Amino acid sequence: MKSVSLGVIFLFSSLFLLGESGSSSLNDDILGLIVFKSGLEDPQSKLSSWSEDDESPCNWDGVRCGPKSNRVTELNLDGFGLSGRLGRGLLWLQFLQTLSLSDNNFSGSLSADFLRLESLQSLDLSANNLSGAIPDGFFGQCGSIRDISLAKNSILGKIPADVGACSTLSALNLSANQLSGSLPSQIWSLNALRSLDLSYNSLDGEIPAGISKMLNLRAISLRGNKLIGRLPNDTGDCLLLNSIDVGENQLSGDLPESMSKLSTCSYVSLSSNSFSGEVPAWIGQMSSLETLDLSGNQFSGSVPSSLSNLQHLKVLRLSENSFNGTMPDSLAACRSLLEVDFSRNPLTGNLPAWVFESGFEQVLLSGNKLTGPIEFPPVTDSTLQNLDLSNNDFFSKFPKEVSNLRSLTFLNLSYNSLYGSIPASLGELKSLQVVDVSGNRLSGKIPEEIGLVTLLKELRLKKNSLTGEIPTQIGTCSSLSYLDLSQNNLTGAIPEALAALTDLQVVDLSLNQLSGTIPKQLSNLPHLLSFNISHNQLSGELPAGSFFNKITPSSVSDNPGLCGSIVNISCPAVLPKPIVLNPNSSSPDSASNMFSPGNHSHKKIVLSISALVSIGAAAVIAIGIITVTVLNLRVRATTSNSAAELALSDEYLSHSPATDTNSGKLVMFAGGDPEFSVGAHAVLNKDCELGRGGFGSVYKTILRDGRSVAIKKLTVSSLVKSQEDFEMEVKRLGKVKHPNLVALEGYYWTPSLQLLIYEFVSGGSLHRHLHECSTSNTLSWQERFDIILGIARSLSYLHRLKIIHYNLKSSNILLDGAGEAKVGDYGLAKLLPMLDRYVLSSKIQSALGYMAPEFACRTAKITEKCDVYGFGVLVLEILTGKRPVEYMEDDVVLLCDRVREALEDGRVEECIDERLCGKFPVEETLPVAKLGLICTSPVPSSRPDMVEVVNILEMIRCPQDNQEEELS
Ligand SMILES: *[C@@H]1O[C@H](CO)[C@@H](O)[C@H](O)[C@H]1NC(C)=O
Ligand SMILES: *[C@@H]1O[C@H](CO)[C@@H](O)[C@H](O)[C@H]1NC(C)=O
Ligand SMILES: *[C@@H]1O[C@H](CO)[C@@H](O)[C@H](O)[C@H]1NC(C)=O
Ligand SMILES: *[C@@H]1O[C@H](CO)[C@@H](O)[C@H](O)[C@H]1NC(C)=O
Repeated sequence: MKSVSLGVIFLFSSLFLLGESGSSSLNDDILGLIVFKSGLEDPQSKLSSWSEDDESPCNWDGVRCGPKSNRVTELNLDGFGLSGRLGRGLLWLQFLQTLSLSDNNFSGSLSADFLRLESLQSLDLSANNLSGAIPDGFFGQCGSIRDISLAKNSILGKIPADVGACSTLSALNLSANQLSGSLPSQIWSLNALRSLDLSYNSLDGEIPAGISKMLNLRAISLRGNKLIGRLPNDTGDCLLLNSIDVGENQLSGDLPESMSKLSTCSYVSLSSNSFSGEVPAWIGQMSSLETLDLSGNQFSGSVPSSLSNLQHLKVLRLSENSFNGTMPDSLAACRSLLEVDFSRNPLTGNLPAWVFESGFEQVLLSGNKLTGPIEFPPVTDSTLQNLDLSNNDFFSKFPKEVSNLRSLTFLNLSYNSLYGSIPASLGELKSLQVVDVSGNRLSGKIPEEIGLVTLLKELRLKKNSLTGEIPTQIGTCSSLSYLDLSQNNLTGAIPEALAALTDLQVVDLSLNQLSGTIPKQLSNLPHLLSFNISHNQLSGELPAGSFFNKITPSSVSDNPGLCGSIVNISCPAVLPKPIVLNPNSSSPDSASNMFSPGNHSHKKIVLSISALVSIGAAAVIAIGIITVTVLNLRVRATTSNSAAELALSDEYLSHSPATDTNSGKLVMFAGGDPEFSVGAHAVLNKDCELGRGGFGSVYKTILRDGRSVAIKKLTVSSLVKSQEDFEMEVKRLGKVKHPNLVALEGYYWTPSLQLLIYEFVSGGSLHRHLHECSTSNTLSWQERFDIILGIARSLSYLHRLKIIHYNLKSSNILLDGAGEAKVGDYGLAKLLPMLDRYVLSSKIQSALGYMAPEFACRTAKITEKCDVYGFGVLVLEILTGKRPVEYMEDDVVLLCDRVREALEDGRVEECIDERLCGKFPVEETLPVAKLGLICTSPVPSSRPDMVEVVNILEMIRCPQDNQEEELS
């Protein structure tokens, strides 16, 4: 395709040239650029201004023309996002001086003709996708080229020997390619060259002789190759050299003395090679040096004191060599120094005071043999940001003057012999991000002030003798991602506050004396990669959740009280054996610790509720054994709060392991109501199961006072929120009081078992009345209308309290003895830790047919209008006596579709429940059917809100009914 169009253009242009020779050359430019464009992909349409109909290309994007010639002299398409090959069209641009195509996606190999453009001075093809070798002859015909960059491509092969032919070349950059072979000696023929960058290739062999001819060379980088041998003896003859970088090669030998002549050189990096010998004293003559990087070599002997002559020196890196002796005090004279790195040498002596003098930003002395005390300056003008004194033999207290290093962001004093406690003054270092004092002999507590270091990312206190608890204030270090407190003597519990640190990735608390349970909230940490709590005295259940479910067993090992599948010890709550409490046990010292009788300031009512609850494993229930569990409860009624809180100690659980110290908590909202204490035994067992739903099973239980309650045992305990959140939510629901809502009377909480205690409603569910009752005792229309109105009023009330029901269905609507509707199960979705529709739809899938369509749409917001939808379905269900979804032979029929069709065909009456035998007023059923359909509108905003629904229903009700209602 492209070659054809190219040929056509070529033919066309030839004809054109014959016809109008006067403006032929200008049209060469247009056609050359159009041909070039035709071979490209231009996804960002950056070349849209390039039109072959234009008379001149000089206003095209990226194109510039010479003012006199009006010919294209510059093409700069840097970062235009172009793909494709470097077409031959460019060769038509005979006046082109600058071609810059950097940072695109040009591919293919270079053409040998490229430099044939006689006027070309600057060629920049860097940061593309060019491949293949540099063709023979590429450099052979370079006219007046000064500047070539082919950096950051994938060019292979050798550097051609004809490179030396470009005698005008002043800058050559072939860095970051895959060039191999040795450096051709002809390269030193480029005597106009000022800058040579061959870094990051795979060049090997020795640096060829002849560099002294490069009298114009300012900067050379050969970094990141495989060069061997010595730095040429005559390197220093390139007198103008300003920057030398031969780092990351395999060069060896010592520094050629000629370099002492490089008095204008500011940058020398010989890092990561195999240079050896002593650093000669003449280094002090390279008086312009700003950066001297000799790190990662085999230099030995002492650090030359002549370095003090380098008044411009800013960066001195001598790390990873074999420098011995002491750091010369004379370095204090280098007034420009910002950064010194002497790490990993065998240097001896004390910490020199000059490292804290103003000006320094980074002092890295790790891995030497430095001794004596660490003493920080008494003044606060330090500019030091990074201080690494780790792995030395410093011996002193951890000086509290650390707070004088006001700019510190990184502090590493690990693996020395520091003693005493971690100073509280650390909290004054507001910029601190990393603290590592591992491997010392620090004792005492972790200061609470650590919470003031709010930018802290890493805290490493491993291998000390720290005692006391982990301060909860650590919860304010909101950027913390790495916390290692292992191998200390820390006690107490893991603070819940850790759960607030959402950036945490690595936590190591192993080998301490921590006890108590692991806060469940930790399961919410989204970025956790490792959490090691092995070798402590932790107990209870591991938090649930994706990370903790897959935690490696070694991270939790040696905690005798931990339970769960990871440690292969089942937790008490899922023990298949029954939990038996003795109601008559009045063991003198069991619960009395908690509620000491000596404390008479509280008015205490001891309520001994003996509800016999079989809350054992499902297996027990399944085989129908009635297992007896007695909750022996002591109640403390507080004067300020009407709620009575009962604490249930597991010490009463005669079969529970002694290590389990979880204590349950029963809260009855009715408070210290004495009637509640009148006892009768109640049995929670399979025979008393009232039903099962998405959130758990419901059992009927009779309290001692003879009153019945319905107890819902939540089965989603692994999903239930923390105790605080659970209680907050449940207490909110406990305040909800409405004649058409099933009242929540209390709850019982342990980490593994949650019960909700509801008012018992005697008349059965609406579902049963609609779908399981015989025709003879079917609900009358009047009863049905009352039920609809009752549901509507309860929802309108809930929505006013900003509670969404989420789980409307006929089995959740109960009828009391008088036939009044009572809506149950409201608001329970809020107990799930994440109100996400996946959880909702999987937990409440039994509500199929009631679920508003927006649940299926991930982006739609779930509002009260989803309840309106469920209500609409209920209305139609009550009206028709049909289930919301019916499965026909090979079809699924949605109730609302069926009614909608019937309404459109004008035969709604046919839909009304036939068990009513036609005994209903059409003036009520028709608008109620319409209301049901409006409520099931697929668009949430088209549904009315529940207040409107109640008003409409009250208007639909015929006047005589109103009178009847008022009479009764
Ligand atoms: C770069 O070009 C190649 C083909 O030459 C193409 O496959 C690739 O998608 C392009 N990349 C970008 C980022 O345009
Ligand atoms: C460079 O100098 C070293 C010692 O100064 C000498 O051993 C070596 O032979 C010299 N190399 C060349 C190529 O002259
Ligand atoms: C430093 O090492 C050299 C050997 O490289 C040795 O001759 C010298 O005595 C050492 N100096 C000190 C102070 O240890
Ligand atoms: C912890 O304390 C015990 C006794 O108090 C001591 O024997 C042990 O060495 C301490 N462990 C550490 C790591 O300091």
